[in-house]
Amino acid sequence: MTKTKNRGKFITLEGMDGAGKSTHIPNIIAALKRHHIEVVSTREPGGTRLGEELRALLLFESMHPETETLLMFAARREHIATVIEPALERGAYVLSDRFTDATYAYQSSAKGVAKVKIKQLEKWVQGSLQPDLTLLFDVPVEVSLKRLADAREPDKFEREDARFFEKLRDAYLSRAAENPTRFRVIDANQALEKVKSEVNVKLEEFFATI
Ligand code: TMP
Repeated sequence: MTKTKNRGKFITLEGMDGAGKSTHIPNIIAALKRHHIEVVSTREPGGTRLGEELRALLLFESMHPETETLLMFAARREHIATVIEPALERGAYVLSDRFTDATYAYQSSAKGVAKVKIKQLEKWVQGSLQPDLTLLFDVPVEVSLKRLADAREPDKFEREDARFFEKLRDAYLSRAAENPTRFRVIDANQALEKVKSEVNVKLEEFFATI
């Protein structure tokens, strides 16, 4: 059997801050384990010691949007080399709370970094690596802002205004429309149990395709 046959799948979670994606990680891990799959659960920025150091800077230090983009990709390079690729190679599934779609949404659409620059970095850092499945947790902007207002001390992204969040939502929905095979959009503006069952349905649909 070739290595490629055994390769794991790469699943990413995306959405605006306050969309509630991280709440669903334990459920997603449980669903994968029901299929007897080894899961490596990770996040971006972060996922490695260096990446977590960079995360602390990225979330709380103000910086030029292009510096931010470069640091996101520096963290990503390390993440791919030391966590994502080795796991996929040995046949494990990787579940990452955010990946490059977030860079397109936050640094490009919301902060104005040229898309072509992000595309170049994506190609350099990822080669042909792309998620096999991306679950996009979608909520209206006012719902997201309300959830954040009730939550813990915000980081710099969570302090942005409604206009910034509108750009994020539009960017994510456009990327989902452009990549209909990879993306599944979850209506996250429902009771938690309903969102959970929608996630389970979308995961089972994905399994049916592989
Ligand atoms: P989290 O709160 O969902 O863990 O994400 C951390 C923050 O980092 C979130 O506000 C989005 C932001 N981010 C970017 O701006 N660009 C990126 O490429 C990634 C991965 C995250």
